[in-house]
Amino acid sequence: MRTHLHWIGCLIAGFGSILAVPGLLAAEKPSIAAEAQTSERQVARPWMNKSLSPVQRANLLIREMTLDEKIVMVYGVDPMPVKGYVGYVPAIPRLGIPALTLADGRAGVGNGAHDITLLPAPIAAASSWDTNLLNEFGKVLGQEQWAKGTNVELGPSIDVVRVPEWGRTFESYGEDPYFNGQMAVAEIKGIQSQGPIADANMYLTMNQESNRFKEDSIVDERTLQEIYLPPFAASIRDGHVGTFMCAYVKTNGIYSCENPQLLIDFLRKQLDFDGWVMSDWGATHSTVGSVTGGLDQQMPDAEFYGAALKAAVLRGEVSVSALDEHVRHILVPMFRHGLFDKAQPGNWSANVRSPGHDAFSRLAAEQGTILLKNERSLLPLAGNESIAVIGEAGGNDPKVEGGGSSAVVAPYKVSPEDGISKRAGSGVHVSYADGKDMVAAANVARKADVAIVFVHTDETEGDDRPNLELPGTQDQMIEAVAAANKKTIVVLDTGGPVLMPWIDQVAGVIEAWYPGQEDGNAIAAILYGDVNPSAKLPLTFPRSAAAIPTANPEQWPGVNGLSTYTEKLNVGYRWYDATGAEPLYPFGFGLSYTTFKLSHLAATPAKLAPGPGKITVTVDVTNTGKRAGAEVVEAYVAQPAKNGEPPHQLRAFAKVQLKAGETKPVSLILDERSFSIYDAASHRWIYPADTYEVLVGTSSRDLPLHTSIAVERDGKAR
Ligand code: BGC
Repeated sequence: MRTHLHWIGCLIAGFGSILAVPGLLAAEKPSIAAEAQTSERQVARPWMNKSLSPVQRANLLIREMTLDEKIVMVYGVDPMPVKGYVGYVPAIPRLGIPALTLADGRAGVGNGAHDITLLPAPIAAASSWDTNLLNEFGKVLGQEQWAKGTNVELGPSIDVVRVPEWGRTFESYGEDPYFNGQMAVAEIKGIQSQGPIADANMYLTMNQESNRFKEDSIVDERTLQEIYLPPFAASIRDGHVGTFMCAYVKTNGIYSCENPQLLIDFLRKQLDFDGWVMSDWGATHSTVGSVTGGLDQQMPDAEFYGAALKAAVLRGEVSVSALDEHVRHILVPMFRHGLFDKAQPGNWSANVRSPGHDAFSRLAAEQGTILLKNERSLLPLAGNESIAVIGEAGGNDPKVEGGGSSAVVAPYKVSPEDGISKRAGSGVHVSYADGKDMVAAANVARKADVAIVFVHTDETEGDDRPNLELPGTQDQMIEAVAAANKKTIVVLDTGGPVLMPWIDQVAGVIEAWYPGQEDGNAIAAILYGDVNPSAKLPLTFPRSAAAIPTANPEQWPGVNGLSTYTEKLNVGYRWYDATGAEPLYPFGFGLSYTTFKLSHLAATPAKLAPGPGKITVTVDVTNTGKRAGAEVVEAYVAQPAKNGEPPHQLRAFAKVQLKAGETKPVSLILDERSFSIYDAASHRWIYPADTYEVLVGTSSRDLPLHTSIAVERDGKAR
């Protein structure tokens, strides 16, 4: 029955779209009756032959499509004829083309959907440094989207975090291009394994929210290639992502969605991308300019790609073959990901929750929670201490998610107070103060053995944070509590880094990010040591507002609409290392309740012969403490000084689980890409013959093991 209704819906939607293309010449306008007859007539559908390649199938289909049908594919219908979703391209039943149903979802199905799972923010998941976890994260998201009837998932967000105040930091993975690429690939594969096509976004230089509809990122080609492009390149190469969303901003004077350097030179010519680029919502600015600039599909409406595009084709300003190419870009991933070959059984009203997904949400929050400070091993708690939970985010208004288009309707939220009380058990006194009255908060803290203060930021798309301070009086609240109780632990529910002027006054700090629906249970598991923390920072925490890579207003938020990327390659930890600035907590850093030691670094072979090759770096990791735990081994490559690169850059990492006392060898793979740099003069990636240092350790600032690799002959990276 549901299938039947769905089909009728598609038919209606299909007709709606044809009627919705204004400007059709009268002679061409098909009557509904004629169209219905056509759709009833059996059209031969050679493109349904699954043994053909997606490109062959798309070409066969394009041959059969009328101009109107092609136009229907390249824009979203607004308002949508269906319930739910945020973007919609109607079906063309005559040809068996299914509708495209697009929904937001960086941490759960968005756009007001109910009965879904709220996962932790992507920055939290990424803090696990565990690509398996990200893959599972994508699977949960993809499964829920598919069951909601979504076949294009608008995620993940993979931009490199350049500005620590960026309002969408929580939606992204962090500040390192290689790291973001690894996370993106894992999540995209997870999403696409469940049915939906993933839409990696936002392409490109979407690094701030301030002035986001007009901002112009002034950035040199080498920086674009080495810092901002790699996550997108990895998404194509290893993630086989179906779509990208081009961003609101301009890059070097040209809007992202009509920027031929970004959309044609980089994506098509350099990276062989054969999927489609859709515009962010309202990021299309022209018809002919966008078509020739490389935009395949306008979202969410028809302003430039509906009647206007059809008219441009009829006037000869856009060739039919150019339009065909854009349509092909859309159809190829639709074929590749099976949208023509399998029924979409989901619908927006379905309850897509499951106990397994609730459990995964908790696991991801636990695995993404970073222990930053733990003086005198105050944590884990012994279990018999009385606890004061303090702060609004600790009580019945837990800060579980960020705002904007990634916001979702949480099915429930476990508050830290509830999670801790439940874990502490009935014999332990847990008190609460919201912290608005600092004297009252200090009094509650004084009476407890341990005070746990929950502070938060309200981060959202559309707004950067004005600075890196905790909003309101939260800093003072921490100081008041810390003065009353030496055993004060601060839990940060933030989407990005914050300054910690009180750091020396507190015994412990935990970055829990926006932890999703299982907030209280996850933090309790960490505090009590049921879970040994193993997450690490995917971005640097600065010591002061002045000592950040983008402290100059010309860099952020920009002057006269221009944000100039004068820091060039020195983004995130690269800048701290290049300038010698001391971070508060460095990229890659995170503590555990046990300790680890690395030894026996070896690289085999120790040279990279010409041609594609691999070097295996091995290192022994020993758990030298008394509890089981997991450690992340990080390998950075230092380029010869003459190459003009930042001091060292992450090129491989792996996470390993170890019992107390156990030693395991860990292998990390390097290849020519690990040594390559972008040569702007020849517009190529190259790896010059030379000696490169490989530094291995457990954070970007703790790299005790070194070895050298000889690259034998100049090479061009693939
Ligand atoms: C956001 C996108 C989002 C779209 C649809 C835009 O404002 O930038 O990330 O997918 O809205 O909700």
